[in-house]
Amino acid sequence: MKIFLDTANLDELKKGAEWGIVDGVTTNPTLIAREGRDIKEQVRMICDIVDGDISAEVVALDAENMVREGRELARIHPNIVVKLPLTRDGIKACSTLSKDNIRTNVTLCFTAGQALLAAKAGAYIISPFVGRLDDIGYDGMQLIRSICTIYKNYGFQTQVLAASLRSPLHVVAAAEAGAHIGTLPFKVLDMLFNHPLTDKGIEQFMKDWHKVFQDAPVTA
Ligand code: G3P
Repeated sequence: MKIFLDTANLDELKKGAEWGIVDGVTTNPTLIAREGRDIKEQVRMICDIVDGDISAEVVALDAENMVREGRELARIHPNIVVKLPLTRDGIKACSTLSKDNIRTNVTLCFTAGQALLAAKAGAYIISPFVGRLDDIGYDGMQLIRSICTIYKNYGFQTQVLAASLRSPLHVVAAAEAGAHIGTLPFKVLDMLFNHPLTDKGIEQFMKDWHKVFQDAPVTA
């Protein structure tokens, strides 16, 4: 499963990129607004930090303006994926942009039926929101499983991006369910590293080494 960071924060992206495990970035109007900079400028800076698919979302609500904004966003950098909401206009815009070979990420997906529409419209990525379904008492991960099965049944090329992941357990479950991509807030990515036995093991190894070799490093 590819790992994307779900943030527009440059410091978080730099830290994540240094680990060499970040395959892409997702943003949305909330995340861009949080940084307070013009979307084009912010997205360009993100493209300089992470070499991978970078989703940038339109804010227009009608298809014509979504297409116009989408084309503008796509011009920023070859790695841009245009994010569109799963509405009638969003699907219409997705069909138009896909025919022009502009890659799209259809977002705010909450049912497998919606995901089927996005695939039919040629979406490059579909973004089902796991956590927000859990929030209202539905099984968000079941949606990921269901979409993966449907896409596999019919050979759709649209990638399933598990969004709204809130914990390391969500990330593992999304990978088990077969999501192609998981997008994670920086905090969740950071939490994936942690295990008390890893810390305890390092402490023991260092103690044993120092007893015999003091501060000597491993040398050739
Ligand atoms: O980028 C969309 C999604 O990942 C949002 O997550 O936690 O606000 O539901 P959340």
